[in-house]
Amino acid sequence: MEVQLVKMQTTSNIESQVLDSIKRRRSLRAYSYMPVEEEKIQSLFEAARWAPSSMNEQPWTYLYATRGQQLFSEILECLNESNLLWAQHAPLLVVSLARKKLLRNGLPNGSARYDLGAANAFLSLQATELGLNVHQMGGYNKDKLVELLGIPTEEYELGVVMAIGYPGDPETLPENLKQRELAPRSRHTVSSFTMNRSFKNGNE
Ligand SMILES: Cc1cc2nc3c(=O)[nH]c(=O)nc-3n(C[C@H](O)[C@H](O)[C@H](O)COP(=O)(O)O)c2cc1C
Repeated sequence: MEVQLVKMQTTSNIESQVLDSIKRRRSLRAYSYMPVEEEKIQSLFEAARWAPSSMNEQPWTYLYATRGQQLFSEILECLNESNLLWAQHAPLLVVSLARKKLLRNGLPNGSARYDLGAANAFLSLQATELGLNVHQMGGYNKDKLVELLGIPTEEYELGVVMAIGYPGDPETLPENLKQRELAPRSRHTVSSFTMNRSFKNGNE
């Protein structure tokens, strides 16, 4: 496995057939000014609702804000400079949180962040189906977000912030971001992260 890690190659090609929305999903940075319709916002959260979760605890929580709301400006204020540059043009911002404790007994939920990631992935694919782009961001000031939004950190762990909207014109982006927007996506090859053997049995 270590040898393969060193030799890791990337590819932009689809190696096997996958859902069309998986092929089409991208983390774009250029947004159209068009707002996201309320029923589509609800559809995104409906998709998250149906994600699998440990013990069906559904530990995800979303705070969302549309352009013009005070909450929208507060979330924007917390983004890193490099994200703010493009994310300020998205019409919808979503803060994703994971509930730390199990509803059934108040004990810590070791799967909360994992389950939140699954819900965010469902949300992102639903967005693709609706013609929307979701761009997840870990690059934001967590202390500031906690303070501005009054997030009770004894109850919630912070996930990503998402910028969501209809894709816009890449020409509106600064040159370096435009290049990234138009570049093909690259991925490690499937064979570099899968093994049909255990770690014990060498190259059997
Ligand atoms: C947990 C997480 C944090 C991320 N943080 C950022 C970020 O702060 N800024 C950014 O531009 N992209 C961010 N991304 C997007 C990734 O860079 C992107 O998903 C990756 O490059 C693959 O590109 P693709 O989503 O278009 O396939 C983040 C994605 C995830 C899942």
